Formats: sequence, structure tokens, C-alpha cells
Amino acid sequence: MSLGSWADPGAPGAEAVPGIAPGSPAAQAAPGPLPPPDAARPPPGSARSPAVHTLELAKSYRRTVALRGLSMTVARGEVFGFLGPNGAGKTTTVKLLLGLARPTGGEAMVLGAPAGHVESRRRVGYLPELFRFQHWLTAREVLTLHARLLQLPRRDRATADALATVGLAGRADTKVGTFSKGMQQRLGLAVALVGDPELVVLDEPTSALDPVGRHEVRAIVRSLRDRGATVFLNTHLLEEAEQVCDRVTVIDRGKAIATGTLEELLGQRTSVRLRVRGLPDGWWRAHADLGAWSVEGEWLRLAGAPPESVPELVAMVVGRGGRVDAVVPEHQTLEDRFLELLGAR
Ligand SMILES: Nc1ncnc2c1ncn2[C@@H]1O[C@H](COP(=O)(O)OP(=O)(O)OP(=O)(O)O)[C@@H](O)[C@H]1O
Ligand SMILES: [Mg+2]
Repeated sequence: MSLGSWADPGAPGAEAVPGIAPGSPAAQAAPGPLPPPDAARPPPGSARSPAVHTLELAKSYRRTVALRGLSMTVARGEVFGFLGPNGAGKTTTVKLLLGLARPTGGEAMVLGAPAGHVESRRRVGYLPELFRFQHWLTAREVLTLHARLLQLPRRDRATADALATVGLAGRADTKVGTFSKGMQQRLGLAVALVGDPELVVLDEPTSALDPVGRHEVRAIVRSLRDRGATVFLNTHLLEEAEQVCDRVTVIDRGKAIATGTLEELLGQRTSVRLRVRGLPDGWWRAHADLGAWSVEGEWLRLAGAPPESVPELVAMVVGRGGRVDAVVPEHQTLEDRFLELLGAR
């Protein structure tokens, strides 16, 4: 299947246009502002095209294979988490989606247009992983610059709104060079949000923030969903994914290893450990319907069993003529499950 089937008939050209995504601080290095939108032409994509769709997307940097055939779909209006360990290929994917790097294989569509196309970039906000603003400008000036590059009609209003959203209204006229790391990250987020983009791509948006800042950013992400925007969130923070994402793809070594809601991926994270005497080895095999049994030294573990099942389990062992020496209900942590998932590739 070709991804082109999702391209809006009105989408101009199939060639990805090299350049800089709007909303990116890197846009400051672009040769000039984006050409004005063609009012006569409908914007590419529509409600029927996914926010993001990739098919066997691949990227190699000389000998390093960063991405080895990624296929995924992000629906409009969802908060999509892209979860993976360091070096998994998260930033590489984002760069390909924004046209900041060219794929060495496969295809990607963003908002119904080929990745990197000027018409989709216009409607995407981007917070890069690593960025630096012009230290001699104030926060307001940085945002105004981006509002001009985006050719927004009411720049003062858009700038003020974005600063207020990220909690920097009181520092609007402070030079960026004096900003703390967390304040710079907030400004980066404001740049990504200015102009109400349809798709907001955030690459580790809370890495420099304190717990209050993280909480605030998560609230902003939820509010973006409330107003119908799509959020593509790169993160390696499990609790971040758990708190805000509707769906996640877990990526490892350039390959998607699991996709679904976190609940689906993490499954039933409870288990019960038992120490049983008086029954022949392997007696539990007759009870595979209760969950996944495993032997850990003297202990048996029944994965998936909720704590409420303890009385029944004990009664079952006693009913077979055995004795329960000890029983421990357990809750697998999110982190354990994630490590298990990565280990199972
Ligand atoms: N410009 C580049 N040149 C060469 N190799 C690169 C380049 N960019 C990324 N890589 C390699 O591609 C792989 C994926 O890197 P990427 O930055 O996409 O990972 P990531 O998932 O974003 O990791 P992190 O959580 O550390 O940000 C790594 O092995 C990295 O070294
Ligand atoms: Mg990264």
C-alpha cells in the first residue's frame, strides 16, 4: 500500500521539501519566511488523514542504522507517546517527520502531506530535544520572530498567549541569555505552541523541568488534546507516558516492539507468590487457566493474579492436600514491565 493514498488530492507535489519546521528554533536559520499560504488551495490532509503515518520508515547514518523499518499511525486528536531508551531512534523519527532529515527508506505522511512538505510544516509545532535561542533577545522577541516566520495575523496576541500558557508572562521582557534551563525549555514549548498548531511534536519536553514544571507541561499537553490538537511526545519517562498518553509505541534499536494503550502493553501487572509444601513437583501445571505460573527457587509465581484471589488460591492448594507456608501479593512496577518488554525483543 502506498502512503500516497492518504495524501489529500489538493496536496501540492509529492516531493518532501527540505527545510526547517515552523516552530523550531532552527527556523531562525532558514533563508527566509515561508511563502504565504495559497488561499485558493485547500490545505493538504483532512479529518480522514491520520496526523502521522509511516510505512517501513528507515534511516541510516553511514554505518549506524538509527531506524529499521518503522510503521505506525497516529490518529488525529490523540496524545501519542513514543517511548524508548536512549539511542532507540526517537529523535531520528521526529527529524524525519519534520523534514529535518531525509529517510534512507520507506515513507512518512504528516497531516496528509509527505513528511517535510511546507504545507504540513506550517501546521506543526516542534520542541526540539536540544536547542539554543539567541541569548541577546527577550522571550517576547524570540516568540515574535517565530510568529513572523509563521506569518500569524495577530502576533502580539499569539505571543502573549503562548508565554502565558507556559508560565513565562512575567519574564516576557527578560533576555533569554539569563534564563535557567527550565525557563528555556518553557520558552521552547511556547515556540512550539505559538500559532495553535494542529500537530505538536515534543521531544523530551520535561527533561530540564522540576516536578512543578513537569506537572504544568502535562497539563498543557492535556489541554492541547482538549482543543483537538494531536500531540506526538517523545519520552523515556514511563510515568509521563502513563499520565498523558492515549496510546504509545515502544521503540528499541530502531524498531517498534509494541503499540497500544499503556494498559494493554503493561497488562495485568499484579501477581501472587506462593510457597507451597506437600504437593508433587509441577502440580500447578493443571491450573494454567489461572495465569502464568513460574518457579523461582522455593517460590511459585502466578503472574496476572489479583490480590483478591489469594483466599481462593490458598483454598485450592489446601483442597489438593498441600500446605501454604507463605503468600505474597505483588504489584509489578511500570519500570519492571518496561524492562521486561525491552528484554523480550
Ligand atoms: N547525525 C547522526 N549521525 C550519526 N548517528 C546518529 C545521528 N543522529 C543519531 N544517530 C544515531 O542514531 C541512533 C538513534 O539516535 P536518536 O537520537 O534517534 O535516539 P533517541 O531515541 O532520540 O535517544 P535519546 O533518548 O538519547 O534522545 C543512535 O545510535 C545515534 O547514535
Ligand atoms: Mg532523542
